[in-house]
Amino acid sequence: MIIITKIVDLQVFLSKKISQTKTIGFVPTMGALHLGHLSLIAQSKKQCNLTVCSIFVNPTQFNDATDLKKYPRMPKKDAELLKSVGCDVLFMPTVNEIYPTKDTRQFNFGYLDTLLEGANRPGHFNGVAQVVSRLFELVKPTKAFFGSKDYQQVMIVKALVKQLNLPIKIIACPILREKDGLAMSSRNMLLSPTERKAAKLIPLLMQQSKTLKKEGKTIAEIKHYIKTELTNHTIYKLNYFAICNATTLKNAKKFTTNNTYVALIACYVGNIRLIDNLEL
Ligand code: PAJ
Repeated sequence: MIIITKIVDLQVFLSKKISQTKTIGFVPTMGALHLGHLSLIAQSKKQCNLTVCSIFVNPTQFNDATDLKKYPRMPKKDAELLKSVGCDVLFMPTVNEIYPTKDTRQFNFGYLDTLLEGANRPGHFNGVAQVVSRLFELVKPTKAFFGSKDYQQVMIVKALVKQLNLPIKIIACPILREKDGLAMSSRNMLLSPTERKAAKLIPLLMQQSKTLKKEGKTIAEIKHYIKTELTNHTIYKLNYFAICNATTLKNAKKFTTNNTYVALIACYVGNIRLIDNLEL
């Protein structure tokens, strides 16, 4: 695996490789890697000839300065993990490389970034679009791999690629979970042992919402159940629980047979904000 920090070096390397490489797979990350990230690398290796992973904690997508500051950084361990799974290129640029001048681009995703994460983290998806479009322009991948854990992010990236007319295929990969069901996340390591134990209620509630749907409960009844479960314990603070149309992400009022639905949650466990989702 080659580690590259400068854009010029990345471009020299990729231009040399491009003649012998048919397909480039790209996995953008913010580091503090876990098996969820590595599953994206595995997908890329399966589907492409050369795999590039980027680690860049993107300041423009954090709407909370403390969140950015406390975001875990462990580049050495990350590089070892990537090497062990056969990643070909690790691109680790500095903030100045990615943003030599302030990125003032404003993307328009219509209603898509006004809901859920978009509503609760103003500017977040604009920041994601800035960095992802910049990285796409540098890496020029054939396919880019994203986790369904960030369900709305996948939809935003697909919309971005369409808007910019980029010849990149976006592949959504399944959520990898811990043994107790908690969706793997770099943020999990910030939980105290008590919070970590308590966090398993989140995936459990997602499963329960699926069971409740099967039992014929209405959306209002499911929402009421989930909210009550979480208000029973002071360690949780629910940010949102929504049931949406799985293709449009629009808020669903009732279940109809010809549509698929997804339940999405954002919940603080102590001070750590966790997200999860499950197709119902
Ligand atoms: P990050 O949170 O590091 O996640 C990088 C990629 O890993 C994302 O596509 C995310 O959905 C995926 N991922 C995270 N946890 C996962 C899990 N448990 N199972 C499967 N995939 C998982 O998402 C970002 O970084 C950033 O917003 C980024 C796209 C890199 C732009 O800065």
